[in-house]
Amino acid sequence: MLSLACRTALPAGRLAVSARRQLQTAAALVSRRPTRCSFVCSRRALSTSPVYQNAAGSSSPGAPRVRPAEPWKRHLSPDPSTPTVFTFFENATSTWQYIVVDPHTSDAVVIDPVLDYDVNAGAISTKTADGLLSFIHHEGLHVRRILETHAHADHLTAAQYFKQHLGQDVPVCIGQRISQVQETFAPIYGLDDPALFEKTFDCYLKDDEQFELGRLSCRVMHLPGHTPDHVGYMIGKAVFTGDSIFNPDVGSARADFPGGNAEALYASMQRLLSLPADYRLFVGHDYPQDRDQTCWSTVEDQRERNKHLKVSTDAQTFIQWRKQRDAVLGAPRLLHPSLQVNIRAGKLPPKDEKGRVFFKVPITSEVDL
Ligand SMILES: [Fe+2]
Repeated sequence: MLSLACRTALPAGRLAVSARRQLQTAAALVSRRPTRCSFVCSRRALSTSPVYQNAAGSSSPGAPRVRPAEPWKRHLSPDPSTPTVFTFFENATSTWQYIVVDPHTSDAVVIDPVLDYDVNAGAISTKTADGLLSFIHHEGLHVRRILETHAHADHLTAAQYFKQHLGQDVPVCIGQRISQVQETFAPIYGLDDPALFEKTFDCYLKDDEQFELGRLSCRVMHLPGHTPDHVGYMIGKAVFTGDSIFNPDVGSARADFPGGNAEALYASMQRLLSLPADYRLFVGHDYPQDRDQTCWSTVEDQRERNKHLKVSTDAQTFIQWRKQRDAVLGAPRLLHPSLQVNIRAGKLPPKDEKGRVFFKVPITSEVDL
């Protein structure tokens, strides 16, 4: 059985310094000495049977035995070039997960699936992922790719778990600049052996690359700023933005991770706002204050109401504001576990000689004890 333990010297949630400062300090430590370990929306009731049948009405021995996740909404395809989108909110990390389907063929992609992690228990589990897998099976979908928008710093990706269960021929894809993120973070977490990055991601997507999803076409948009590797996926009139823009009343994501850049984030947001007014922007997270969660808004909505970047806001004002805001933000609660898993496409850190798995937390200390 896989043993999980956490060499945590300081709880990540209590770190008061900004993410950039914390990681830059960690990087400096690495260089001096070994890291101390430290469109139309609908809801539909799903079966309550303990063994779930697929859309064709048959069950198979490999069928997942958990109840299919209930989508927050089904956004039915509004035109022949735009997919049907099933949206799933993961409450613990406020993450939107998407299952995007070509209605002509039932070919699908999964975008940004979440692996559950209880930081206090040091326990990884798959309840969220199993619900999505069961949904995929129940609906009779053919998943062709698992897509990441970027190396997330606030939740663990379930990409490898999906690949294990959907088949080894289903590639895990991410933007080509993930190599830049891997080079930054691998030494921070002692992942120094290049072999550790073999057989992780299967597909490194180029800027503006296009690939087919059944009869639909998906275009890769490089949208840097939040992270350097960040991409969005445009399929017909649906754009999956990750963290390059948030809902209008939430605004924008931080740009202070290593390789992040407020200027680039502004340019990426402007690129999204320059799309046709009726395109839908499906975001990577939502943090509602006094409303239900929601996952999309139109480009027109964003132009008129984005609290950080209305069309009237000039670049300099936004960039200055973003930098000031980021300077006082604490590190994300799951920063260290997330990065150690996500730069390896969802693989856990390598086991030690006794088969144990640890997350590392780089620390600073005022004293040498
Ligand atoms: Fe992110």
